Amino acid sequence: MILHRMSAVVAGVVLLGGAMAGCGNGNQVSGGTDDGKITLGFSQVGAESGWRTANTKSIQDSAAAAGVDLKFADAQQKQENQIKAIRSYIAQKVDVIAFSPVVETGWDAVLQEAKAANIPVILTDRAVDSQDKTLYKTFIGSDFVVEGQKAGDWLVKEYEGKSGPVNIVQLEGTTGSAPANDRKSGFEEKIKADPKFKIIASQTGKFTRADGKEVMEAFLKANPKIDVLYAHNDDMGLGAIEAIEAAGKKPGTDIKIITVDAVKDGMQALADGKINYIVECSPLLGPQLMDLVKKVKAGEQVEPRILTEETTFTREQAKEALPTRKY
Ligand code: AHR
Repeated sequence: MILHRMSAVVAGVVLLGGAMAGCGNGNQVSGGTDDGKITLGFSQVGAESGWRTANTKSIQDSAAAAGVDLKFADAQQKQENQIKAIRSYIAQKVDVIAFSPVVETGWDAVLQEAKAANIPVILTDRAVDSQDKTLYKTFIGSDFVVEGQKAGDWLVKEYEGKSGPVNIVQLEGTTGSAPANDRKSGFEEKIKADPKFKIIASQTGKFTRADGKEVMEAFLKANPKIDVLYAHNDDMGLGAIEAIEAAGKKPGTDIKIITVDAVKDGMQALADGKINYIVECSPLLGPQLMDLVKKVKAGEQVEPRILTEETTFTREQAKEALPTRKY
């Protein structure tokens, strides 16, 4: 049986609902009422993928269950919207700010403003590349380099003893984001020792199904022989499958496909033989986040890095996991 476990222990649950209300600053913002509960301002990346939808639900459900008053803003994949949301949370004097940074760079100024206002910040899912580690209390999320390495290890094993060249196309995540940078470097590190592996095209598909499809169409037109697609998430892989089928090829057979995430739709495609291997990235960060919010609000020390434990899936494992897959 496949278990999804987080490395830190989840805190006890306080049963109080979190109310949602509107607040406009260029983001889609909703927030809680001021009733003496801990107020958390959360700036989400957007709604670009099935993973993100599950992550948002996990955060909203966990806030309600933990009695945390959540102010939630969807930045629509724009850093400027996230900065506006964080400034708005500072102005509203929330107790804690958490966010999943759309890109890695450019956060120091706004994080210094939060620090000056004595509002603790928690990073979830994605990292920032700031040298000043005092700008945030902790970072919970996956190791994206390891995810890329797992994808590379599978490919190396799959082609063990077979001759090349193995022509690979790569659909990268949002340019400048931690998962795009790290999944690329981890994967490339694992395949570089064997010159038969050739990345013949690599381009962003912005973590969306529509862009994954469009970029794959262009890859197919420009490259008559593609052996492998490595997509940085399931959604781009699923979009690419549509493009591959429209081009008269069989995904999973004519072109082997590796993706990251393991959301239900991706797992179904893996079970159907259209994807060959999925590296899991868990979106269920909400319970741990609420635990950390309570701790940092109480002034307790927390671990600076909390890693999410994750697995990988073959076709058989996907078939076994699908009936109980929650997202
Ligand atoms: O940061 C996590 C990544 O962001 C997920 O893998 C992807 O699906 C999402 O958009």
